[in-house]
Amino acid sequence: MSNLIPTPHIEVKSTNEIAKTVLMPGDPLRAKFIAEKFLENPVKINNVRNMFGYTGTYKGKKITVFGSGMGMASIGIYSFELFKFYDVENIIRIGSCGAYTTELKLYDVLLAKDAWSESSYAKVQSGYEGDSIEATPELNKNIMKAAKSLNIPVTQTRVHSSDVFYRENFKQFEDIRDTHGCTAVEMESFALFANAKVLGKNAACLLTVSDSLVSGEVTTSEERQNAFTKMMEVALEMA
Ligand code: HPA
Repeated sequence: MSNLIPTPHIEVKSTNEIAKTVLMPGDPLRAKFIAEKFLENPVKINNVRNMFGYTGTYKGKKITVFGSGMGMASIGIYSFELFKFYDVENIIRIGSCGAYTTELKLYDVLLAKDAWSESSYAKVQSGYEGDSIEATPELNKNIMKAAKSLNIPVTQTRVHSSDVFYRENFKQFEDIRDTHGCTAVEMESFALFANAKVLGKNAACLLTVSDSLVSGEVTTSEERQNAFTKMMEVALEMA
């Protein structure tokens, strides 16, 4: 299914230039950082809208790192084009999240078991009526195995995928946590999982806690860059 490439948002002309497994950070500059720090022979493959993507190898295996942008609208576009038109099989989002409980500490690494959302993304995209979508269990199993081999603690949990970062009623999160069992919030995984489900592909989401809605603690962007290294190593090792 490669007759529609290049796509409107990805200027890559051949499916060969993109690996079967793609790591997706939200920030395209983080994709650059990962490529330069971890990949052998990284080649930049996308510049459209500065949504940088790189393909290289890690321990001899071909891998692509590609920015998703923020929010479900953005990751919805990039993950759909990668899955459907570039024959990508696995997308692992590597992102940040806000903690909804005091048990979660800054820099903890989480793996989304599933994503709950009030978003209309899946309903509009495919008519899906549910409000939660699972990550691919097989992918999660392999990620947990990789984390164990690296001795990095990873907690599997349900995350809240939100369309809104700044809510007028800040305390709304307590309701979402208590009613739906979400322990952390981010803004992309529900759309990623919806696309994977519809297209018969695999998706997972690794997250580092960057702030806490309960305690108000936050990390600086520099601290985040360093802390995220752990999570990237887990994703790369699994890939
Ligand atoms: N809200 C939504 N997404 C996030 C947050 C948050 O507090 N922190 C990191 N990603």
